[in-house]
Amino acid sequence: MDTRKSENQEIEQKRRSFTLSCFICNSSFEIDDYGSFYYCKKCGGVLEIRITKSNDLSSLGDERRLSTGAKTLSRLHSSRGVWKYSDLIPVWHETNVVSMPEGETPLVECRNLARALGFKSLYVKFEGLNPTGSFKDRGMTVGVSKANELGFKKLICASTGNTSASLAAYSAKANLKCIVLIPKGKIALGKVAQAVAYGAEIFQVEGNFDECLRMATEIAEQGREILLLNSVNPFRIEGQKTAAFEITEQLGFVPDNVILPVGNGGNISSLWKGFKEINQLAFIETVKDIEQRERSPRMIGIQAEGASPIARAFRSGAKSIEIEKEPHTDASAINIGSPVNWAKALGAIYESHGYSDSVSDYEIFEAQRLLASSEGLFVEPASATPIAYLRNISSRNSQESQSRDQYERLKDSTIVCVATGNGLKDPNTVMRDLDQNQIKVVSADAKSLEKSLFVSA
Ligand code: F0G
Repeated sequence: MDTRKSENQEIEQKRRSFTLSCFICNSSFEIDDYGSFYYCKKCGGVLEIRITKSNDLSSLGDERRLSTGAKTLSRLHSSRGVWKYSDLIPVWHETNVVSMPEGETPLVECRNLARALGFKSLYVKFEGLNPTGSFKDRGMTVGVSKANELGFKKLICASTGNTSASLAAYSAKANLKCIVLIPKGKIALGKVAQAVAYGAEIFQVEGNFDECLRMATEIAEQGREILLLNSVNPFRIEGQKTAAFEITEQLGFVPDNVILPVGNGGNISSLWKGFKEINQLAFIETVKDIEQRERSPRMIGIQAEGASPIARAFRSGAKSIEIEKEPHTDASAINIGSPVNWAKALGAIYESHGYSDSVSDYEIFEAQRLLASSEGLFVEPASATPIAYLRNISSRNSQESQSRDQYERLKDSTIVCVATGNGLKDPNTVMRDLDQNQIKVVSADAKSLEKSLFVSA
């Protein structure tokens, strides 16, 4: 049999391994029709990619099982990071792949912080080290590759900053046109600068993120010309789920608790999907023993107080959210009042026996500095919400019995906080709260420096 024929067969087999389904009513649709619709045609629910039983890698023999994507991988131009897991990603042809590469970010053990806050085992997955400085690159490499495969030439997104930076970069690399909508005056300078440099067409909207997303969706829904790349796009989720695979490979086991910032709810759903696939498909070499495999983490979603529809829904035990019309937090990345993925996010939280909570802006900025000064990790404000939460419940801070209970449940467990974006994107927030004594002016001679050193000692 010639190689082309066997490649085609492999692709056919891969196609049959995935479905595009409604998260709410389970209706299924043709994957390659995606982009002519964004929500379920029957009930209007959000869509997700599902892996069917035929992609049960355990039936494919040990060689395949021990290193995911082993076969496809050798042909892909990038077999690292996200695309290491290409068997679990619904892109059919390697020629469509647009990769920098992305993923393979460090999982940093934070001993100083763990000691200071009274936790036994604390890690930070530093997603700020992706090519454009945020976790969005995991989703964009898959989303933009799929856009290529579906034949789209123009891509659009609404963004609080990181999505637009990432989409702009991947569009540039793929030679596709990129249109971004951002809420005027509400996004960090470094993120706008990225979109400008990567050559996107940028519209500042006199409104908030939720309004930008509504506009972008309406434009994309008008025809099969412009593809929407926000996290309602299920191919984004397929890329972002790989963070769960990496965390598990890096630890050698599934962690007890994963804490993430929540905005639109895409990332918490992505990681939960990833952990479920680890369980379902048993493909990670280091997690061979059944007991380990059957573990799953609690997913803990943290929001900023001024933009916390998911945390409020969780606290009241509700199955749906109430939209916040005028969200406000200085952690601009998560300033979202109407998260499109709320159903998936709440699903991840309830199903994993996790929970959701909120923290104040003051606590977020304190936590951002604490993480930087104790571990050398500079993350953007939104990314510090998990640390702010841990600080709040840590025995040293908390008076409330509920917080004390949460602390008791976490203190001896393995905790992974996902640091979603790089602090360099948003230096203004740090400089705004600068303690003037930290940066001093001295004349250009060692004597005056010595005097100044002596004074501050
Ligand atoms: N952290 C950062 C740094 C983000 O940029 C975002 C979302 C989130 C967390 C929340 O992730 O939406 O999947 O729950 N940023 C989007 C953007 C909205 O446009 O860049 P989520």
